[in-house]
Amino acid sequence: MHKSSTLAVPEHSGVPRHLAIIMDGNGRWATQRFLPRTAGHMRGVQAVRRVVEACGRRGVHYLTLFAFSSENWRRPQEEVSLLMRLFVQTLEKEVGKLCEQGVRLRIVGDIAAFEPRLQELIRKAEERTAQNDALHLTIAANYGGRWDILQAMQRMVAAQPALLADPKGIDEEALTPYLSMAFAPEPDLFIRTGGEQRISNFLIWQLAYTELYFTERYWPDFNIQDIDAAFEWYRTRERRFGRTSAQLAGGV
Ligand code: FPP
Repeated sequence: MHKSSTLAVPEHSGVPRHLAIIMDGNGRWATQRFLPRTAGHMRGVQAVRRVVEACGRRGVHYLTLFAFSSENWRRPQEEVSLLMRLFVQTLEKEVGKLCEQGVRLRIVGDIAAFEPRLQELIRKAEERTAQNDALHLTIAANYGGRWDILQAMQRMVAAQPALLADPKGIDEEALTPYLSMAFAPEPDLFIRTGGEQRISNFLIWQLAYTELYFTERYWPDFNIQDIDAAFEWYRTRERRFGRTSAQLAGGV
């Protein structure tokens, strides 16, 4: 079990062990080129490929991408359908390559809402890559941070009904095993492309002490130089986890 950043100071180094990304700006990228928004999502898949490869080479161990939020169902039906088709096509096409790269794929989110064929593809892709350990790639799909905390609460109480009679027993250590990212350390670095500066109900529990990096670049244009610029910025951050600069300087 990985250390919670609020209970203990986690290990950290020059390269983020866990990188979490909100891939924003696909629609604007397409609109600027007088293309349908869906063309931006299709180009976005190429950026996903670039980033997965670059992270693998740079020694990132966990990469978590926000592909579809609980709130994205509010988009026009045509766009939602295209995104679902893209997930299916990408899973069918890319799993072999992910295996060659030693990538373990997981999908987190309320996947019960997806069509059965997509759910089955997800299950198979997770199973096929389950032995890989070079890079843990997680796609958050129909995911919301509040949904995650609530489902964790529900599963915790179902597994340990005695907690209802003694709610003081509900603490971080009791809850975190039930969060959908329990297998990973908390993100060290968060990147949001597309110029907006918000978390948008992504990993709201896990981002407590994450360094937040925002770039104007639209996701389909996000490239290796952009990753390196974000990592360079990350290296300059003093990660105090609640302590003072003097304590860090003194190695205390
Ligand atoms: C946000 O841009 C992007 C999404 C809601 C979808 C992200 C999906 C992909 C990058 C492609 C598929 C990914 C995988 C893993 C198969 P936006 O549409 O909100 O852009 P806008 O803010 O410019 O409108």
